[in-house]
Amino acid sequence: MNYNMNNDWYFTENYTKELLHMTTETMKELTPVRLPHTVKEMETNYCDEQEYQMVSGYVRMLHVPLEWKGKCIYLHFGAAAHEAEVFCNGVLVTKHSSGYTAFTADLTKSVLLGKDNLITVRLDSRETLNIPPFGHVIDYMTFGGLYRGVTLEVKEPSHFADVFVYGTMDKVMYLEMKTRRSEKCTVSVEVKDASGTVLAETPARPYIDDMSMEVPGAALWDINNPNLYTVILHLWKDRVEVDTRQVRFGFREVAFTSKGFYLNRKKIKLRGLNRHQSYPYMGYAAPDRAQALDADILKYELGCNAVRTSHYPQSQAFVDRCDEIGLLVFTEFPRWQHIGDKDWKKQAVQNVREMVLQYRNHPSIFLWGVRINESKDDDALYRMTNVVAHKLDHTRPTGGVRNRKNSHLLEDVYTYNDFYHNGPNKGCEPKKNITSNMRKGYLISENNGHMFPTKSFDWEEKRCEHALRHAAVLDEVRAQADIAGSFGWCMFDYNTHQDFGSGDRVCYHGVMDMFRNPKMAAAVFAAEGLKTPVLEISSSMDMGEHPACNMGDVYAFTNADYVKLYKNDEFIAKFAPGEKFSHMKHGPILLDDTIGCLLEKNEGYDKKTAAQVKECLYAIAKYGQAALPPRIRLLVGKLMLTKQFTFEKGNELCGKYMGNWGGKMTQWKFVAVKNGKPVAEVKKGPAEQPRLEVRTDTNTLTEGDTWDMATIRIRAVDDNHNVLPYSNRAISMRVDGPLALIGPEHVALTGGAAGTYVKTTGETGTGHLMLRAPGMEPVVLTFEVTGKNMDE
Ligand code: GAL
Repeated sequence: MNYNMNNDWYFTENYTKELLHMTTETMKELTPVRLPHTVKEMETNYCDEQEYQMVSGYVRMLHVPLEWKGKCIYLHFGAAAHEAEVFCNGVLVTKHSSGYTAFTADLTKSVLLGKDNLITVRLDSRETLNIPPFGHVIDYMTFGGLYRGVTLEVKEPSHFADVFVYGTMDKVMYLEMKTRRSEKCTVSVEVKDASGTVLAETPARPYIDDMSMEVPGAALWDINNPNLYTVILHLWKDRVEVDTRQVRFGFREVAFTSKGFYLNRKKIKLRGLNRHQSYPYMGYAAPDRAQALDADILKYELGCNAVRTSHYPQSQAFVDRCDEIGLLVFTEFPRWQHIGDKDWKKQAVQNVREMVLQYRNHPSIFLWGVRINESKDDDALYRMTNVVAHKLDHTRPTGGVRNRKNSHLLEDVYTYNDFYHNGPNKGCEPKKNITSNMRKGYLISENNGHMFPTKSFDWEEKRCEHALRHAAVLDEVRAQADIAGSFGWCMFDYNTHQDFGSGDRVCYHGVMDMFRNPKMAAAVFAAEGLKTPVLEISSSMDMGEHPACNMGDVYAFTNADYVKLYKNDEFIAKFAPGEKFSHMKHGPILLDDTIGCLLEKNEGYDKKTAAQVKECLYAIAKYGQAALPPRIRLLVGKLMLTKQFTFEKGNELCGKYMGNWGGKMTQWKFVAVKNGKPVAEVKKGPAEQPRLEVRTDTNTLTEGDTWDMATIRIRAVDDNHNVLPYSNRAISMRVDGPLALIGPEHVALTGGAAGTYVKTTGETGTGHLMLRAPGMEPVVLTFEVTGKNMDE
């Protein structure tokens, strides 16, 4: 039996030995908490990594009924950041020294039957611990807490201890099992598809560790059809079922060759982003729903086919969702540049072991990262990490993220952080510049990031440059056939240590902000990867945003065939993909003409003259009248002599076609056309009625196993749904019913966007979130909180 153990904990920021002797009564003097839990809620910026560094304590009573006599009792922790000692009735049961992997406390011998048993956790979240990733600087915060769930397993003495299951392309399922006390046991196996139909089964046979079984009706797992199956194992002793275990898996094959990455022997260019597991305010302690949502965002909003879980194994809920939606995962053990002493390394190897054992049943995982991110060569250590990973899982290759060229390649794939791109140059280096081993696979594990930090409230040209830099890398990676793919740095802005970021403890490296509101660069990924129509325009079309009022280049990020531009409903021009970004499926399209055919149409110029006048107008916008290049001066002179062109006329045309000053405000309309049909439209014009656009991932929350949470993304938009990037209005938020806010009740929009989280409080019923901002219509969201029967 499995029991939920997320509720009824008590917490203190100061661990003392008294926590080993708490009673049901004394415990109540501490703070009641539910898991996932962060040791400290923090501000989104100008916060301090010292805040979460503490030795804290968690206590809880566990009633053990008499019927559990003779059973094995395991307490399973999803994660405890960063070093946990678990005590039962004051006696140490286990110690675990990694904040990013799960562990089990075997309580069998420590519990008192028929009594309340005191569980105490001493949790050390100080970054001075001699375990990975600590020891030197780290570019991310490492928030403490019991930030994933805890469950209790009560088992017969004979039971499954571990199961590794994988399916191959020829529809054979392989099982590698470990059991306790399985002598004289038999095992039977069923394989079911997602609808619950049994596709294959075996009757009970004497137990052996390794088995295989054909599953003829099974379909392969891939990124478009992520078919999943469940194997259900039954362990029998004397014809009585003593244990059962269900594991989800897929049939698929992953491989890297010198030419790239192959899924089911089909080449796929990996297009991903790096993801941290942090959230505003709560650090790592977000419930499963939010963790899973990030996978959906990566796939369905950012069009990625892969993700790297930088720089540690992440929530099972996140990886489960990757399995379900077909998002490939490159996961790695905790680390950041520094390699420590002998004890530290021992722990690092243990971390690899735990990572592979705990995550190897996920079909979405295609690569194990077995080097400390960006560390120097350490052949002894990395020989060991490779051996461990391969021994525990011979089905997947290993990689290890480097920031140096030609380091010793002990892994199957050379994974390299290529920060070569700096704007004007190529998107990345060729493989041969990075590794002399051309026979093995090569993957870019990071790019961009610190090369061009960009805030959602930066000026437009910077935000556009950020987007174009991501496009440049994606384009070059597609051009180079032997690069398996790339993982941009990174999915969203994240809290970091004082040594990094913009001085406010934030690295603004994301293509989204911390609340997962998209920046302009997100549209590059969306256009490249999504099938649903995408159309984003890089400019608000306000020339006053630009130096010398020169609007410069405007780009469309779209997956359509071309874009048509209209000005006040008059057709201007049609723009198709150009030479630049031509390797991408849907690279940014340059819209370099906002005058189009208007000079011919409205001013009566012939085609040639219109083109010459247009050239002069663009040159004036770019260089200013006083600094026109000689060729343009000559052209202006020629137009004056032959076409009665005057300075006054020039000024008039500039005002009319470039400045668009006076009269009716200009409305720009962009229409994306695919297969001859309009598929998306964007309008840009004066923002007359700003309003709040509020999105939640769910209106239904489930209370029971633990607290649940809805993710709210907020943006200020104009009548045409365009984000107002410089809106910084204050938003007041209030909840009623069985709900509470995470974070403050008043926030300011930053970059026209904000976010909040609404959590359940232990009650069921209907609740609301009310949002107000000055001069904008209030928004009310309704949530139904339903109850789930508690197991305990
Ligand atoms: C890399 C590092 C990442 C992040 C990134 C910023 O060197 O691996 O964790 O710091 O730089 O661009």
